[in-house]
Amino acid sequence: MDANLKKLLDTCRTSIVDGKQNPENDWKLFTVSNITKDGLPNSRYVVLRDANFTEKAEITFYTDSRSGKFEEFQKSPHASLCFFDRHVGLQLVMNASVSLYNQDKTAEDYWQKTPWRSLQCYYMKEKPGETLKTPFVLNPNELSEDQAYQFFTVVKCTIHSWDILLLTKTGNERASCEFNSHGEFKKAAWIAP
Ligand SMILES: Cc1cc2nc3c(=O)[nH]c(=O)nc-3n(C[C@H](O)[C@H](O)[C@H](O)COP(=O)(O)O)c2cc1C
Repeated sequence: MDANLKKLLDTCRTSIVDGKQNPENDWKLFTVSNITKDGLPNSRYVVLRDANFTEKAEITFYTDSRSGKFEEFQKSPHASLCFFDRHVGLQLVMNASVSLYNQDKTAEDYWQKTPWRSLQCYYMKEKPGETLKTPFVLNPNELSEDQAYQFFTVVKCTIHSWDILLLTKTGNERASCEFNSHGEFKKAAWIAP
C-alpha cells in the first residue's frame, strides 16, 4: 500500500480510538443515519462510547430502547456513520451493520462502567418523541435504576468500509478502504474527491 495512504488510514484509526475517551476530540460526536420504517433516511448526533480497530472494526454508541431508531435498526440493521474533525478538515464516513444489546451481559457491562452523568437520560419516564404540554424537564428520581436500565441499549456497529475526505488547500484528498473480519485494512485506494 502507498505509504501516504497507509499514514492517512493510521491517522484515522488513531484519532477514532482517541475519540472514545477524549471529549476534546471532534470525533467524540458523530452522526448516525439509517432508514426509517417509511423507507426514508434519518440522521442524528450520538456520542462515541467505544471504538475498536484492532481485533475487529467496531464503533459503539448508546441509545434508549424506546427511541425510534431502536425499532428501525431491528427491521433494517444498517447505518452510515459520519465523523468530521474541523481542526484537521477530515471527514470519515463509515458503512456499518448494527447489533443491539439490551438487558444482557454486554449492556450490563457498559452500564456498570459508565458514569452516572451519561446514564441519567435513561431515568426518564417519557418515551423519546412523545408529545408534551410543556418543555421537558428531567426528574431522574421518577424511575429506579432497574427501570432506567431496561431502556439502556448498547448499539454496536460493525464497520465494513471507510470513505475518507481530507480538505487541503492544494486539492482535497479522498481515499476508501474495506475491512476484513479482523479489523484489518483491505482494498485501500486513493479516489477522486
Ligand atoms: C450532542 C448530542 C449528543 C447526543 N448523543 C446521543 C446518544 O449518544 N445516543 C442517542 O440515542 N441520542 C443522542 N442524542 C440525541 C439524538 O440526536 C436524537 O435526538 C435521539 O436519539 C432521538 O433519535 P431518533 O428519534 O431518531 O431515534 C444526542 C444529541 C446531541 C445533540
